[in-house]
Amino acid sequence: MQGREGSIPLRRGACHGAWSLLEQWRATLEAMEDLLRAILEEYPLPKEGLHGPRHWLRVSRVGLELAKATPGADPEVEYLFALFHDACRENEHTDPDHGFRGAALAGSMRGTHLLHLNDAQFELLRYACTHHTDGETTTDPTIGCCWDADRLDLGRVGIEPEAEYLSTAAGRKLIP
Ligand SMILES: [Fe+2]
Repeated sequence: MQGREGSIPLRRGACHGAWSLLEQWRATLEAMEDLLRAILEEYPLPKEGLHGPRHWLRVSRVGLELAKATPGADPEVEYLFALFHDACRENEHTDPDHGFRGAALAGSMRGTHLLHLNDAQFELLRYACTHHTDGETTTDPTIGCCWDADRLDLGRVGIEPEAEYLSTAAGRKLIP
């Protein structure tokens, strides 16, 4: 019993780094959850729809893979693009200004949920959201990963993604 009690401080000491890391992860996960909740409160369409959270999740997952394989791409901006780019759609069909409104929503959260984002990151996020439906490609690695991840999910609406509309080599590799 004595030995067991004596071993506790030792374990705490040995695990201090891991606990500290877990605290950071917990704080990050809570912040991500708060941000998602705040965005969903503003989302006006059915959550199970074509442009809803399941699409956001796929765009974030593919976009982070693309960012990993694309030198210079910012994975944090890609993740935020996934959450914001369709968050202000007013319908599931034609809504040409929804990207602009998504960027504006992100701007409205800069003082609350996006405090950590610097000006350059926010500008990338704003541009990527605003212009993601213009049909353009880009040489910017971060914006390219954002747009490619969105376009690679076009299969859900019956459109096959085409390599000529993708911006990154990593994205084009995913076209059969
Ligand atoms: Fe989208």
